[in-house]
Amino acid sequence: MKGNTKQQPEVGKPFAGKVVLVTGAASGIGRAIALAFGRSGASVVVADTSIEGGHATAAMIVESGGKALFVQSNVTRAADVEALVEKTVNYYGRLDYAVNNAAVEEEGQPLADAEDDQFDRIMGVNVKGVWLCMKYQLRQMLKQGSGAIVNMASVSGLVAAPNRAIYGASKHAVVGLTKSAAAEYARDGIRVNALCPSAVRTPMLARMVERDPGTEKRLESAQPMGRVAEPVEIANAALWLCSDQASYVNGHELVVDGGFTAV
Ligand SMILES: NC(=O)c1ccc[n+]([C@@H]2O[C@H](COP(=O)([O-])OP(=O)(O)OC[C@H]3O[C@@H](n4cnc5c(N)ncnc54)[C@H](O)[C@@H]3O)[C@@H](O)[C@H]2O)c1
Repeated sequence: MKGNTKQQPEVGKPFAGKVVLVTGAASGIGRAIALAFGRSGASVVVADTSIEGGHATAAMIVESGGKALFVQSNVTRAADVEALVEKTVNYYGRLDYAVNNAAVEEEGQPLADAEDDQFDRIMGVNVKGVWLCMKYQLRQMLKQGSGAIVNMASVSGLVAAPNRAIYGASKHAVVGLTKSAAAEYARDGIRVNALCPSAVRTPMLARMVERDPGTEKRLESAQPMGRVAEPVEIANAALWLCSDQASYVNGHELVVDGGFTAV
């Protein structure tokens, strides 16, 4: 088991000897997840289309004493995703965890005003991207007989997303893909779960605020806690889902929304 020689994790480094792949790790939640895994001892493969942001995340991990490799990769392209998993295994010897987090937002308009190319772009990244990532990750995890995958959905994958119907449909699809994969691979030592955050302070949210400056106040007042989440609060949940602490958690959509969907 190349790259996984440590039997006992170091104190404070529960993921020492483990290898994780995070997509969309050049920014926002993906970056926070990559940094948290790096701090916890994992070797981190940072995947993103953004070369600058991807290198920056990898550099942050290395500067804080962790291990990281940036691989530029577009999750909508099968050849990129296949090469991404191959590079991960060539470099670190295995793939223990994958967080399929890359996604794009919807500009925001009533469903009847959306265009074909918006539908194709959002579904391409958010749904096909997650399916392609799981396809190649699962092939590697099957060889190992172990693994855990976390797909980034959203509360918009569980309840309505007014003026963002395509994004909402894409996140419902992520939950569906997650449950099917969880059922299919449960006897192969592989767990597959989804994470469903509500609003999180990231560049994606900043772009939504830029398009419609009232968004921030509206989102904050819609949250029972009166604030949006910080990326690290989502990262903590992603690490837990991957960890052995969640060994019987499978096919679950974990809501991390400060109570948003509870009211
Ligand atoms: N920010 C929120 O309020 C919020 C809420 C719920 C769920 N989410 C979900 O969390 C995830 C991360 O969102 P974020 O807010 O950090 O967004 P972000 O825009 O800050 O980061 C997304 C990253 O994905 C990358 N990416 C986009 N298309 C890609 C592609 N085709 N291939 C590879 N990488 C690609 C981008 O370059 C970027 O670095 C997404 O799945 C998003 O839908 C976000």
